[in-house]
Parts: sequence; structure tokens; C-alpha cells
Amino acid sequence: MQMKRRYLAIACCLALPLLYGCATTNYGDNQFKLSMASSGKDVMWVPTKVEMADQMLSLAQVRKGDLVYDLGSGDGIIPIEAAKKYQVRAVGIEYNPDLVKLSQRNAERAKVESLVTFKQGDIFVEDFSKATVLTLYLGENLNTRLMPTILKMQAGTRVVSNTFRMDGWIADQEVRISNGEMAYLWIVPANIDGSWQWNGPSELSNLRLVLRQKKQFVDGTLYQGNKRIAHFEDGRIRGSDLEFAFTYQNTNYVFKGKINGSSMTGNLNNNPALAVSARR
Ligand SMILES: C[S@@+](CC[C@H](N)C(=O)[O-])C[C@H]1O[C@@H](n2cnc3c(N)ncnc32)[C@H](O)[C@@H]1O
Repeated sequence: MQMKRRYLAIACCLALPLLYGCATTNYGDNQFKLSMASSGKDVMWVPTKVEMADQMLSLAQVRKGDLVYDLGSGDGIIPIEAAKKYQVRAVGIEYNPDLVKLSQRNAERAKVESLVTFKQGDIFVEDFSKATVLTLYLGENLNTRLMPTILKMQAGTRVVSNTFRMDGWIADQEVRISNGEMAYLWIVPANIDGSWQWNGPSELSNLRLVLRQKKQFVDGTLYQGNKRIAHFEDGRIRGSDLEFAFTYQNTNYVFKGKINGSSMTGNLNNNPALAVSARR
């Protein structure tokens, strides 16, 4: 038995990318035993602490109507906390069938089984595009592998990761919880890259706005015919909300607006009389 456990620990260390070194603790309940056969696929199970789960959900500003997905849901702590605290629907996708069963038992113990669902499956195969909040505790490599799929999700989807960042996508917000652990938030930006026909007030009407987007950061140029009349470097898109500042004929403008597919509406300098609309 001792040998078997030692073999398991060593095998885990060699075969799996680990979080926090070698975790040999057997969490769970009396029906659950962590074994080599039931270890995670791309990363082994290490549970998020309740304090962190609560911080992650609060960072994502979970609210009525949200649908929370936890990718690699372990014992179900995050979906269960989401259902308990916010009465929202939550789904866990977990590769390990023993953990799926454990999380179902945990949901029943927490009396939230009507709100949460646990699905056995591979996070790189299963569809989670309907999530409005996505939670991750997977490691930077796996977060980064998921990034192209996440970026195609509905604009405004909040993505929260316990401890790990994503390579090539700066977090919109980060918090350190009391024990020093970090949580990161990203908000899926609308896709706004490209050329827009822009109509603003008086001399700012009938222009072309060319936007160049890098995740939530945007730079852009306004053209009148072929003439470049303004340029900005530090625009931001947060979900569907776009904001940028530019100067035209010695006047400073701040555009704030919303993106809805291929249309943009908003105004300049918070003035409804300076309305802007644009189409891509
Ligand atoms: C570090 S644990 C996090 C568990 C849970 N999300 C939490 O925060 O407590 C990672 C989980 O991902 C699961 N996992 C690893 N690769 C997976 C994959 N490709 N598809 C689904 N689950 C996976 C593991 O079994 C493990 O339960």
C-alpha cells in the first residue's frame, strides 16, 4: 500500500504538469480515493480554497442570470459556491469520472443540485460557449491553449483564473487575497478590428475609422477621404464598451460607445447632442 502510494506520487510528478509541486493529499469524501487511474488529464486535481472561490466569483461580479462554467471542476467547489452564493446556474466540466461523482455528491450535500451540473468531458472538446462567467484553475499553459476559444466567446464574458495568467493577454484586473494568492480577471472584448464608416456631428461626419485591436487595447485613425485627420493609441474595449480619446482641430474628444456586431453607437464628451454611429 505504502509502495503503491509512493508510486502514485512519483508517477504523478513525472507524468503530469503539477500545480504546487507534488500534491499527494487525498481530498474528497470517504467514497473518493485519488488514484493514478482517476488523475486529471492535462493537470492533476488541486482544489481551490473556499476563500479564493468566493473572491473569484466576486471579481467576476456574478449576478442573476449568469451561467458559470468551471473548466476542470475537480470536486465542484466553484460551481457549488456560485449556486450557493448567487443562486445562478453553474456547470463543471471535469475529465476524471470519480471527481464528477464526488462533485455531484458535494452539490447534493450543499443542496444546490438543481442549479449545478457536472459533465464528464475534456475541456478542449466540450462546448462552453454559452458561459457568461468562466473560471479556471489550470496553469498558464492550459489557460493560453484555451485563449483562442475564449476570445471567440460572447463579448463581455468574464474569465477568472486562480493563480495563473494567460500568455499574451494582460488581465483587466487582478486581486491578491488574504493568504497572498492571486486571482486574475479578463473580459472578453468584442471584435472591432477593421474599417468603420463613421458618422459624427458636423465636421466629424462621413469619416472612416480604422481600428487595430490587440485584445482589449485599440489604436485607431480617422480619415476624411484619404486624409488622416486624427489618431489615437490608447483606446480600450471592455466587453462591448469602447472608449478612446482623440484631438481634432485643437479640440479634445472622448468617444464612449457600444459595439453590437457590426454597428457602433455612442457619443463624444458624454454629450448626447454629439452622437456618433458607425458601421463596419
Ligand atoms: C487544479 S484542479 C482545479 C479544480 C477546480 N477547478 C478547483 O478550482 O478547485 C484541475 C482539474 O482539471 C481537471 N482536468 C485536467 N485536464 C482536464 C481536461 N483536459 N478536461 C477536463 N478536466 C481536466 C483535473 O482532473 C482537475 O480536477
